[in-house]
Amino acid sequence: MILVTGGAGFIGANFVLDWLATSDEPVLNFDKLTYAGNPENLEALAGDDRHVFVEGDIGDVEHMGRLLSRFQPRAVVNFAAESHVDRSIHGPEDFIQTNIVGTFRLLEAVRAYWEPLEGAAREGFRFLHVSTDEVYGSLPPDAPAFRESHRYAPNSPYSASKAASDHLVRAYHRTYGLPVLTTNCSNNYGPFQFPEKLIPLMIINALAGDALPVYGDGRQIRDWLYVKDHCTAIRRVLSDGVVGEIYNIGGWNEKANIDIVNIICGLLDELRPREDGESYRSQITFVTDRPGHDRRYAIDARKIERELGWRPAETFETGIRKTVAWYLENTAWVDRVQSGAYRAWIDRNYGERNQ
Ligand code: NAD
Ligand code: DAU
Repeated sequence: MILVTGGAGFIGANFVLDWLATSDEPVLNFDKLTYAGNPENLEALAGDDRHVFVEGDIGDVEHMGRLLSRFQPRAVVNFAAESHVDRSIHGPEDFIQTNIVGTFRLLEAVRAYWEPLEGAAREGFRFLHVSTDEVYGSLPPDAPAFRESHRYAPNSPYSASKAASDHLVRAYHRTYGLPVLTTNCSNNYGPFQFPEKLIPLMIINALAGDALPVYGDGRQIRDWLYVKDHCTAIRRVLSDGVVGEIYNIGGWNEKANIDIVNIICGLLDELRPREDGESYRSQITFVTDRPGHDRRYAIDARKIERELGWRPAETFETGIRKTVAWYLENTAWVDRVQSGAYRAWIDRNYGERNQ
């Protein structure tokens, strides 16, 4: 079996669902169930004994050690992290604990499990660390997209904590020989994304008749990838990636935030028109920028294409249409994730921003 950490979050849950849709190999899903972890994302697996869920913290070495000895996974895929940049600005501590200390402790538990393995079990074992393009920092407008050799220059507590985790993963390979793979991916979107992130937040606010809060001038650029394409890329790296290598993953979809918001409004105007006949665009509001806001990310995904034959299947147009449709169809999920704690976060993050 494989062990997945953070498999109740957005990308992790999509990965587990896709894994079990395409393979019979069981998954041990280990997740702390923070505000971002939602067992409802995995509801489709109820009663499926190929999926074993265990609640726990990647920083708990003993717990992880017991699970590794008991289940003997052939691979660990590490999604577990604090993932939201704005939250890292308001409270970096959890990011240091989970993304740095937690990854370190997970590596320690995995090393203790892997070192005594022998033969094919030792040779075939993999630790795949899921990371982000944000570790490379911000790109000038005309600079070439991030390659795997790009200098690390993280600008937020989130990206700094992910950068530190990447360095630890690299060090465990170079120092102890742990067979690691690292992926650095661009912005994901799709089903089950928690509505603190740009795309689901805009869909949900639009439908609720709330303001669509665009930070600064809205001209910041991100490189968007449909989440299921990220999952296929991770599967490909896990099966065919060369130990110790880094693979950048992206969708070749550079878009300014304001253009994303306009596209979402256009789709909602078509699929769920406002009763007053106005466009959802009238709800767009420019608000105080995010401190240290990176201007542009762009991924050069040629290495994974050349060496592993992976390319995204979705264009932004097909992926965003599926995503908007998913949020329109899954209103119960949407209602339930907007708990009291979610409202408190919205008040905290947006309450102090000027319009
Ligand atoms: P998410 O916030 O939706 O989910 C994170 C999951 O990790 C949650 O289920 C949470 O409960 C769990 N978790 C948090 N702390 C934990 C701990 N200490 N122990 C065990 N579980 C813990 O995040 P996501 O968007 O699904 O991102 C998953 C991974 O992919 C992260 O490592 C993130 O840095 C990386 N990534 C995300 C994106 C993106 O656009 N969302 C892009 C590139 C890389
Ligand atoms: O690039 C990969 C990263 O993408 C991942 O590592 C992170 O885990 C993930 O959260 C994401 O980070 P971003 O900061 O780019 O994503 P977010 O959805 O928070 O914001 C996307 C852009 O939209 C960013 O430029 C900030 C802007 N934004 C965001 C929100 C929530 C707004 O203008 N208004 C908003 O309300």
